[in-house]
Amino acid sequence: MTDQTALSFASPSAAADGVAVVFAEEGPKLTSAAQDLDKKTKGLLTKAAQITTFKGKKGTSVDVLAPQGVKFGRIVLVGLGKPAEFKHEDWLNLGGTTRAKLTGREGASAHVYLETVKGDVAPANVAAFALGAQLRGYKFDKYKSKKAKADSAAKSDNDKVLKKLVVHSADPRAAGQAFNPERAILDGVNMARDLVNEPANVLGPAEFASKVKLLAKAGVQVEVLSEATLKRLGMGALLAVGQGSDRPSHVVVMQWKGAGPKGGAPVAIVGKGVTFDTGGISLKPSTGMEDMKGDMAGAACVVGLMLALAERKAKVNAVGVIGLTENMPSGGATRPGDVVEAMSGTTIEVLNTDAEGRMVLADCLWYAQDKFKPKAMINLATLTGAVMVALGKEHAGLFSNNDELSERLTAAGKETGEKLWRLPLGPKYDKLIDSKVADIKNTGGRWGGSISAAQFLQRFVKEGTPWAHLDIAGTAMASGDTDINRSWGSGFGVRLLDRLIRDHYERR
Ligand code: BES
Ligand code: MN
Ligand code: ZN
Repeated sequence: MTDQTALSFASPSAAADGVAVVFAEEGPKLTSAAQDLDKKTKGLLTKAAQITTFKGKKGTSVDVLAPQGVKFGRIVLVGLGKPAEFKHEDWLNLGGTTRAKLTGREGASAHVYLETVKGDVAPANVAAFALGAQLRGYKFDKYKSKKAKADSAAKSDNDKVLKKLVVHSADPRAAGQAFNPERAILDGVNMARDLVNEPANVLGPAEFASKVKLLAKAGVQVEVLSEATLKRLGMGALLAVGQGSDRPSHVVVMQWKGAGPKGGAPVAIVGKGVTFDTGGISLKPSTGMEDMKGDMAGAACVVGLMLALAERKAKVNAVGVIGLTENMPSGGATRPGDVVEAMSGTTIEVLNTDAEGRMVLADCLWYAQDKFKPKAMINLATLTGAVMVALGKEHAGLFSNNDELSERLTAAGKETGEKLWRLPLGPKYDKLIDSKVADIKNTGGRWGGSISAAQFLQRFVKEGTPWAHLDIAGTAMASGDTDINRSWGSGFGVRLLDRLIRDHYERR
């Protein structure tokens, strides 16, 4: 993201022009910066508030153009509602909604005077605001020609014409420092979004792997396993998915050793990276199939997270393992009824070649445990359509063999707004995937489709490994507009897992 709006922090009195953003609480009660501008403009803000019946409610604003008596071309008065009740997510969302009002058309820079009526906003909240603003500013327009880009910028509310965003607060140094880790998160989320949004002709398994290699610059050790290596390792499940494609499959292993050798066993994060899912011989219907370019969102999240951890120098040992493959029908493709052997030795009857994500993860989960003996293992996958039937797009599905890990994840979800809802696992569900001809089959029938998929994954989790599976099919792509996201690929999971690691797995 090179053409992102440049962000900086400054004191309330620093020089400014372009657009000014000031705030009011419910009433409306103007903050001191708002009162100051009101005075300088001879009461323009109070007048404008009256005319538009602006009451300072959250989500509302008043626009004043070409005010007299100040250098600004535009003043936006934004309603805070009741900031005394704000949590991290509210500051983040306020940043997003504020950014949406700043187009850059009235001047290339915008100045936000972030304060409440009571006074200062804590540096951590200023940083959250700034992160929200920058996340909202993301836009995937690399395939638009220059003219089309300009045309669409004129219509959009998060265009990149805005060159500079300055957040003014009482302690700009502290705010800037608090933003340092958030900048890493921003880079991680946007990298995940970029990967998910990229079309599958451009981003196949090999191209995805090359993008991951760029993480080496941030200090992540990256190893790309060739298809020959995967064969040697016995990853028959993952390879069966990719065998119909002309593009070879890869597994990429990322290591961030921020806690050093004394930090102990790593946390393992595993991702499904199907760069395109046609369904294979069990071909999907053509309507909406284009969305399956995003079937690598789990892997994209792992990459974004590893980047964020490295950039903010997180004191954690973390390993990322992603299975990159393309599910295509061809003369060489896996057939329904085929039996393959996974790296663990478990044999799988492939009843539906469209239930491919669990096959990819089976070998990645096994490899991660075999090689790294992680103290906890979390996988992310756009695994089932059924999870959207159950939870819609508001929550991702959470499955776990460990109540503590499950509760930690749920809490991290509430704090970041990347919400999870736990669904059950159990022996009766597990029976659904027993096969007549092999150890297991890759579908468990129509009912509880997300659960039988999770049971399949659990067959590859060793006794004693705390494990969680996040089914992000509804939240990682086409998940709908939010205050901080206007992109098809949302980058879901990066902020969630970063929070989990911050709160529970980092050395202090
Ligand atoms: N990638 C899909 C799941 C999916 C569907 C993700 C829609 C996002 C949006 C997955 O590989 C799949 O095809 N799952 C099947 C499983 C079935 C064949 C047992 C499904 O959900 O229908
Ligand atoms: Mn599929
Ligand atoms: Zn899939």
